[in-house]
Amino acid sequence: MFAAPVEFLKGVVAMSGMPPADRIEVCFAGRSNVGKSSLINALTGRKNLARASNTPGRTQEINFFTTQDGPYLVDLPGYGFAQAPVPVVKKWQELLRAYLAGRPTLRRVFVLIDSRHGVKAVDEEILSLLDRSAVTFQVVLTKADKINAKDHEALFQQVSNALAKHPAAHPEIILTSSDKGVGIETLRAIIAGLD
Ligand code: GTP
Ligand code: MG
Repeated sequence: MFAAPVEFLKGVVAMSGMPPADRIEVCFAGRSNVGKSSLINALTGRKNLARASNTPGRTQEINFFTTQDGPYLVDLPGYGFAQAPVPVVKKWQELLRAYLAGRPTLRRVFVLIDSRHGVKAVDEEILSLLDRSAVTFQVVLTKADKINAKDHEALFQQVSNALAKHPAAHPEIILTSSDKGVGIETLRAIIAGLD
């Protein structure tokens, strides 16, 4: 558990708005609705911490959360909106690129993938972008409670195959359910082990 208090610090729309890089940070990326905010809430044991900052119109912001004596937890805007206008997607990609390149304290990018869907074409674009940055990314499968245990093997196989093409990928894939608390302790331990 991250020692309390965990607080929403700020939402950032440009590199100039980033908080000082005075501690390490990890970020959470993934398709819209994949469960990023829920995962941050589960990790921090706070029910509505991340969602509280997710007011409409702020969805393009990079949201920073502070933990006591721990890393920043960073909630990235969801990608893969079918209806997102091209300029919005472009702006998001530019900000993400700048963030990945310009944040020396960023230790890991957790890429969330819905357990029901596996790695999709829209995820591949982000994985390729991450390959071109200097940061290791690690896949976190979400909503494990929505699939049967018998489907785990095929899911891990599909994701492993997709990751084989990506040099920046961490080989360990973490299965989680924010609803059922699956994998949360594992993920906390991974984050706590980064320095
Ligand atoms: P955006 O901020 O729009 O990009 O979405 P997000 O990735 O932050 O997703 P969010 O955490 O808001 O969750 C989206 C929906 O999935 C919500 O209805 C959640 O309740 C649900 N959800 C998230 N995690 C889980 C989970 O582990 N199990 C189940 N069954 N539902 C989940
Ligand atoms: Mg969210």
